[in-house]
Amino acid sequence: MAKQKQRFNKRLIVVSNRMPIVINQDNDQWSIQPGSGGLITALDPILKENKSLWIGWPGAGEEAPVQELLDRFGREQGYKLVGVPLSQYDIEHYYWGFSNGTLWPLHHDLLGYCKFDLKDWQTYVDVNKKFAEVIANQIQENDIIWIHDYQLSMVGNFLKKLKVRLPLAYFHHIPFPSLDLLRRLPWKMEYTKALLAFDLLGFQTLRDRRNFVNSVTSLIPEANILRRQRNFTLIKHRQRIIQVRHLPISIDFDQFNDASHSKEVLDAAWYLHENLHERQLMLGIDRLDYTKGIPERFLAFERALEKYPELKHKISLLQVVVPSRTLDPDYQSLKEQLDQMAGRINSRFGHAGWIPIHYIFRSLDNIQLVAHYRTSEIALITPLRDGMNLVAKEYCACSANDNGVLILSEFAGAADQLGEKALLVNPYDIEKTADTIYQAFSMPFDERQQRMQWLRNQVKKYDVHRWLRNFMKAINEVNSMVDFT
Ligand code: UDP
Ligand code: G6P
Repeated sequence: MAKQKQRFNKRLIVVSNRMPIVINQDNDQWSIQPGSGGLITALDPILKENKSLWIGWPGAGEEAPVQELLDRFGREQGYKLVGVPLSQYDIEHYYWGFSNGTLWPLHHDLLGYCKFDLKDWQTYVDVNKKFAEVIANQIQENDIIWIHDYQLSMVGNFLKKLKVRLPLAYFHHIPFPSLDLLRRLPWKMEYTKALLAFDLLGFQTLRDRRNFVNSVTSLIPEANILRRQRNFTLIKHRQRIIQVRHLPISIDFDQFNDASHSKEVLDAAWYLHENLHERQLMLGIDRLDYTKGIPERFLAFERALEKYPELKHKISLLQVVVPSRTLDPDYQSLKEQLDQMAGRINSRFGHAGWIPIHYIFRSLDNIQLVAHYRTSEIALITPLRDGMNLVAKEYCACSANDNGVLILSEFAGAADQLGEKALLVNPYDIEKTADTIYQAFSMPFDERQQRMQWLRNQVKKYDVHRWLRNFMKAINEVNSMVDFT
């Protein structure tokens, strides 16, 4: 299927902590390929068309010939990658420390995981400055600079200090916390004020946008609201106008839908169900992360088996956990907890020929991923808090027989768009989640079909290409509002 082409005639500088690449070593040969994911797929055409660049931390092991690989990528793909080298100290305090040990849990309402450490904060500020310096060295007249996610929230501030006069856009992929939570951050003023250096700020949901605007007006006395509309808020801060929007990110519906009809996927899906025959498969797919609510999900499934004995032998939870941030002790203990819980529930309920929880700790290749989506009668997606949750949207795009039921946490950003026909749950409410599992299991085909058709239409209509068009339109408006010369 031909991709909807984005027409945009400016050079784009995309900046994210991780680069959009996969580096592999096969025998002595190193290879570099574009990574997968909606953002990369959507941006690819405009990056190529305008000879744009992507700046980020290459991340790969020191043994890889990184520069050579990045250059090769540029020649092969038609857009350039520029690496920001980080020291071990930077990685420890900026990445593991402030980004993942402070901002990540704080923005997911999980204060108990937050560490507040001055060295982490200072290194975060320094690394954001480093990113800004690398960007400033690359810019040309008329470029647009687009920064991604919480690791780089202060880059705009440093670019302004470096007198960069180009439109600066930022997209926040994770939730934005309420003022009450944000106030716990010792550097809340600096953090919030730095975000105001961007000219356009995009959030996933209206709630995130409201939380941000509320924090700004409460914490930064010299900032005030110029205009508040359904789709955007304009903030005035020191003679500048800042546009704040909610623009929920999405997936490439056609790509997933098409893949779900391919022969390889149909074969893989058939094998999966054949191995686990005569039962409904209930799928969970998450990165290893304490925000994803996996232990609570296991407890809800256990409660469902207790409360509704007719589920025994008739349903299995297929939980895929993709290894992530495994050097962090909090992630290591989550892994141990999951191993232990799956073992306990399986030995409590398992029976000849039936294992209640199939728990896989690894990533899936694309065919397997789509086959899992396509063949599972239920998806159980219950994060405690999530910016969006693309897995929920991908599941709908692949449920090509319209027979899947989506159980979704009300605290995932995706619930705003899919909540009308998904079965919404509070992941902390084990009892009601167990009841909802039973409701999904027993749902008649007509109702499944009617709900899933609606969900698929919704994901198709609001796909990642539309998200990108809207973002670019908003950047153009910034351009026309502000004189950057
Ligand atoms: N995913 C993946 N490999 C896997 C399983 C999932 O790359 O083995 C992808 C999945 O297709 C989705 C992404 O990981 O696009 C997860 O995104 P999501 O928004 O659900 O959560 P995040 O990991 O960003 O918190
Ligand atoms: C989430 C964040 C991304 C991050 C990804 C993987 O999706 O929003 O910014 O890159 O998790 O986490 P990692 O720490 O491995 O980059």
